[in-house]
Amino acid sequence: MAALTIMVDYSVDSQVAILTLDNPPVNALSQGVRQGIKEGVEQALADDDVHSIVLYCKGRTFIAGADITEFSQAPKGPDFHAVLKTMEDASKPIVAAIHGTALGGGLETALCCHYRVAVADAKFGLPEVNLGLLPGAGGTQRLPRLVGAEKATEMVTSGNPISAIEALQAGLIDRIVQGSLLADAVAFAREAALSNELPRVRDRDDKLQTARENPDFFTQVRQSIARKTRGFLAPEYNIRCIEAAVNQPFDEGLKTEAKLFRELMAGPQAAAQQYFFFAERQAGKVPDIPKETPEIPIARVGVIGAGTMGGGIAMNMVNVGIPVTLVETSQEALDRGLNVVRKNYENTARKGRISDADVEHRCGLINGSLDLNDLADCDLIIEAVFENMAVKKEIFSTLDGLAKDGAILASNTSALDLNEIAAATQRPEWVIGLHFFSPANVMKLLEVVRGEKTSVTVIKTCMSLAKRIRKVAVLVGVCHGFVGNRILFQRQYQADKLAHEGATPQQVDKVLFDFGFPMGAFQMSDLAGLDIGWSKAKSTGATVKDRLCELGRFGQKSGAGFYDYDEKRTPAPTPVTVELFEEFAAKAGITRREIADEEILDRLLLPMINEGAKILQERIALRASDIDVVYVYGYGWPVYRGGPMHYANTIGLDQVVEKLRRYQAQTGEAFWEPSLLLLDLAEKGQGFS
Ligand code: 3HC
Repeated sequence: MAALTIMVDYSVDSQVAILTLDNPPVNALSQGVRQGIKEGVEQALADDDVHSIVLYCKGRTFIAGADITEFSQAPKGPDFHAVLKTMEDASKPIVAAIHGTALGGGLETALCCHYRVAVADAKFGLPEVNLGLLPGAGGTQRLPRLVGAEKATEMVTSGNPISAIEALQAGLIDRIVQGSLLADAVAFAREAALSNELPRVRDRDDKLQTARENPDFFTQVRQSIARKTRGFLAPEYNIRCIEAAVNQPFDEGLKTEAKLFRELMAGPQAAAQQYFFFAERQAGKVPDIPKETPEIPIARVGVIGAGTMGGGIAMNMVNVGIPVTLVETSQEALDRGLNVVRKNYENTARKGRISDADVEHRCGLINGSLDLNDLADCDLIIEAVFENMAVKKEIFSTLDGLAKDGAILASNTSALDLNEIAAATQRPEWVIGLHFFSPANVMKLLEVVRGEKTSVTVIKTCMSLAKRIRKVAVLVGVCHGFVGNRILFQRQYQADKLAHEGATPQQVDKVLFDFGFPMGAFQMSDLAGLDIGWSKAKSTGATVKDRLCELGRFGQKSGAGFYDYDEKRTPAPTPVTVELFEEFAAKAGITRREIADEEILDRLLLPMINEGAKILQERIALRASDIDVVYVYGYGWPVYRGGPMHYANTIGLDQVVEKLRRYQAQTGEAFWEPSLLLLDLAEKGQGFS
């Protein structure tokens, strides 16, 4: 075997040239890979003793795409298109041997081979849309020619990969191999060489016919994804490319694709989404945990509290086969909780996402109990009762007496002092915060809260468990509200102030919605329930929220809160809320005025950025990008704006400081004082990094 580059080897097995790529971890198309493929194909074409070529990858996967780290660097040859042209125009058949994931530029490479064979568990996709891009190396022109415009549109707009069996049925691959991938691919190449055919995907046209005959096809696609893709540029650009594949000759289509690719690549959304790709992966890395740190095997989990949170947490565990003991204080509450879990699964089964047998299996993995002693054999116990320090301390003190040695004791608190909770036990190093987001079975974020004494073994175990239950974990320190809620408090405070000063809740909410959040601050409060932390007996009616609760307006669940709701939970503005804000403003001597959307947006977002900076300064978050991960996955910050800290970088930190100072001067409030870190970075002309 001869090395063409450090990433590609060349060998010949009885007239079949084998190009072996080795660029761990995912065989991305880095410069050395591109060069190696081009040189390898050229060498094979020049070698009279070679009749065909196999492209094969070492390691865990076929090429998973372009090397995203190269996007921000000066281009280095050879150009990817030139590599693909060499392959597609080759006078000897090339066979792609695919395992793992053929994604993005990887699939585009395979599409320029004459044949594709794959193992049964291989996956195929064009996920560029998730990076704010479109497949820029012919993928949008070649894929529909193989699988039809319908399937191709679905793949490029969702970014979701398809299985080998689906790929075979759709015509994307030629064969699923059962034995050794390389040996079978070489055998396939021999057959191909005998056939004397060199099928090129670009020459196909038949599969485009159905879309040509359906003039409404693209309109229907746009309508069907409009809600999901609101605000994103890339899905629409991907559709335009498939339209070009259907309506333009191949080479014209390629030009359209290249033009739209360049536009996306130059825009802020692609930058934000690529930033976020790495931010998400970075979040899982904890610098002060040595590699050799052992992990505790988690074979059974206990959950205390069968309410919305507890039930959702239990579902996460049983979804991946971890049995759960779910404890409640009364049979009625336990039955209610178990019923909600069952109904959730039945709904999922109705949508065809799991089978009826799965429903039974998962429900069967939850063992309901009224006795905390039943948690004695659990490796991890998660307390998910309401936010009351005294109650939580009592529970932890009890757990200390009954949990087995080496069990992790976790609290799902969303704001309370974890160190105080840990101090209620004799084993604070085993105590950690696992802050799930509601609905816990749906939301991807998990804030892992590290107490003063939490051991690294416990942290490492919980970060791994998060992966196992398919969450994105972000490690945070102890402070009121941790990262997510602490920042949110600032936004809620301003939303409330704006409504006192003259903005309507729907104006505030619309500004946030237009920015890209799925809902605004008042709608979010209504969804969470206005009565959290409120009690009828103790209510003093001191805030608009209290007064709404006194009126029985607890939010969506009671059909009314800041908004009125119909049976479909659609919000409608109500004079009740506005009158209350007017009344409170009058009492406080606030002169109400019209407030421009721009001021509303500034006043909602700048305090979030400033609080994020304070959190970094206090080392509550490890990195700015961790805060962004919390916001995108926990609070619906639009990923195409990267998260609050990335967004601040795009505005420029000097601008952020200037605006904070302006509001400070206008209001005289210390609230607007920029954090020291923000001031420092702005002065140095730097961003959060
Ligand atoms: N470029 C550079 N680095 C990449 C990469 C890529 N395309 N894909 C993954 N990596 C890196 C990750 O950053 C991570 O690095 P780290 O260990 O230092 O954090 C490492 O590879 C492993 O990645 P994951 O942790 O994500 O590993 P998984 O096994 O969970 O997932 C994967 C593997 C499914 C391949 C996933 O990494 C993935 O989806 N990658 C991106 C695929 C993609 O978007 N391809 C299209 C790229 S754009 C393109 O091709 C443009 C073209 O059309 C011109």
